Amino acid sequence: MNEGKKRLFTGLQPSGQMHIGNYFGAIKPNVDMFAEHQGLFMVADYHALTSLKNPSELRTNIIENVKDYLAAGLNTNNAILFKQSDVSEHTELAWIFDCLVTVPFLMQGHAYKDKVAKGLEPNAGLFTYPMLMAADILLYDTDIVPVGEDQRQHVEYAREAAAKFNLTFGNTFKEPAELISKVVGVVPGTDGQKMSKSYKNTIPLFATRDEIAKAVMSIVTDSGGERPQNVYAIHTLFKTETELATLYETNKGSYKALKDALIEDINTYFAPMRERRATITDEEVKKVLYEGGIKAKAIATVKMAEVREKVGVTL
Ligand code: ADP
Ligand code: TRP
Repeated sequence: MNEGKKRLFTGLQPSGQMHIGNYFGAIKPNVDMFAEHQGLFMVADYHALTSLKNPSELRTNIIENVKDYLAAGLNTNNAILFKQSDVSEHTELAWIFDCLVTVPFLMQGHAYKDKVAKGLEPNAGLFTYPMLMAADILLYDTDIVPVGEDQRQHVEYAREAAAKFNLTFGNTFKEPAELISKVVGVVPGTDGQKMSKSYKNTIPLFATRDEIAKAVMSIVTDSGGERPQNVYAIHTLFKTETELATLYETNKGSYKALKDALIEDINTYFAPMRERRATITDEEVKKVLYEGGIKAKAIATVKMAEVREKVGVTL
């Protein structure tokens, strides 16, 4: 696959309904990258199990999130789209990495510390999460990992795991580099904080016009000033500053008119994708994942045979 070209690998944790922050911060940059490069796109369902213990919800998230990506234009000619749990080599290799890295090393993980500080159960899976992610990336001789800023340390951990394995058992893994999209920065939610599922301040992705209207109407507007900052900040995702200057000047002080304009702009932007999304069936998603799983497994099996040989379990 893709001889001579850089290989891309990224993953999506199917942990809930996507919002426009996910779209501009992750989906769009990923879709753009895969339009130009070859690589693998993985649904990290076993990673999601660290926090989600509801089987029907997990199943729904997997299907719905893959539909989101397909509707947003993920190019399956360039990307092997597959599910982590379909390629058992991921959990197998993660175990080997767990035996190489130390507890104090994993304890430096920002994601682990943050989640525990927020009251999440400190299960062992959450703790060793970076080694499963290292296995995801390293099994495929990945060059580049497009991720959000929040995942930077995980890619550093993958490099450390590769280096440690190579030093101990001989050169086997390529050290990958992260690629952090800086185009958008953090998309604010309806309350002005970072838009996040956990804060219940989202504008859902591919929502109906009514749902968009409901979310936009709930945007908190400060009473001082003529320009509602939270409305404006979200609006910049859909219109240029010049367009917005005119709009906000014409409707100075009229928050209702500005919110109506934002509803219109969000709806116009996402409507074609929403229509495309409605035509994608669950069966199609399952077929894409099944076929992708076979292709990913074929690559992972070869790498894992080399790993087994090197660590000494192949007799
Ligand atoms: P949430 O905070 O809603 O739980 P996740 O942590 O699952 O979102 O994020 C999934 C991806 O979307 C990550 O790559 C993250 O960087 C990106 N993302 C999430 N929220 C935002 C936001 N408000 N602005 C920009 N990108 C975001
Ligand atoms: N941890 C990533 C997230 O929460 C998802 C993920 C799992 C991933 N494995 C990966 C991303 C490998 C990039 C590469 O967003």
